[in-house]
Amino acid sequence: MANIIDGKIISRKILDEVKSSVKLCSRPPCAAFIRVGDDPASVIYVNQKQKIARELGIDTFPILLPLHAQGKEILNAIHSLNENPEVDGILVQAPLPTMALQRAAFSAIDPSKDIDGFHPQNLGLLCQESDDGFLPCTPLGIMELIRSTGVDLTGKHAVVIGRSLIVGKPVGLLLLQKKEFANATVTFCHSKTKDIARYSRDADLLIVAVGRPGTIRADMVKPGAVVIDVGINRIPDDRREKGYRIEGDVDFENVREVAGFITPVPGGVGPMTIAMLMKNTLLAYQRHAHR
Ligand code: GUN
Repeated sequence: MANIIDGKIISRKILDEVKSSVKLCSRPPCAAFIRVGDDPASVIYVNQKQKIARELGIDTFPILLPLHAQGKEILNAIHSLNENPEVDGILVQAPLPTMALQRAAFSAIDPSKDIDGFHPQNLGLLCQESDDGFLPCTPLGIMELIRSTGVDLTGKHAVVIGRSLIVGKPVGLLLLQKKEFANATVTFCHSKTKDIARYSRDADLLIVAVGRPGTIRADMVKPGAVVIDVGINRIPDDRREKGYRIEGDVDFENVREVAGFITPVPGGVGPMTIAMLMKNTLLAYQRHAHR
């Protein structure tokens, strides 16, 4: 039976550390959150991020734009936040109405305020293995969860299922780094991969970020593997007050019988993403304060 990796406990420790550091700041760090439209998941995510920021003493600057907002309107909002010396960090909640707009928005953010790490400069610094940029929050959170298991990744086979900019690609690059805690052999699988099970069964570390419940069954997992479930799927459920329940991409109940370590959903990767965002906001403040 797998050990459960508790993202709530690990994220709490990080949030407590950020809160202590914020108390030492000469002014509150400030993060701006841009949300376009009313996608229900984005509303919940941005509200959660703002609530936790405020609990830590971080100021928030919410900007809500209608779904039909033109690119110019979104880019103008980003430019004015770039120019505002009171704003340390800027986050544009994905997804935006088109991928082209999302790329333009991520690229318009001042790289020194890019707390999500999706600006091309920060993604380039990730490829260079530099510590000078900002790294994306979900991949950073995943690395902390893996670190908590005590498993040494050196030479191990890590299989990443999903090739998104937000999770799949950057987490694969972090696992591949020459740094002490990495050095894995990385395989990327995606929607066009033939026979995902062939790869997943060989994985010492399996990261699943596709957004489809039941993607990974017990017979697709190597005994003793570390399984990180990034999926957040709403499943209609009349027995729940909200009318739905949240499930990951992994068949948790059966896979936990085979895996060595596994993250639950909720309570695994989700809280870590927010904790790393808060850490990035503090880092942006500290870099601005020392310029
Ligand atoms: N949408 C889903 N995950 C994320 C994230 O980590 N950052 C942003 N900006 N949007 C997201």
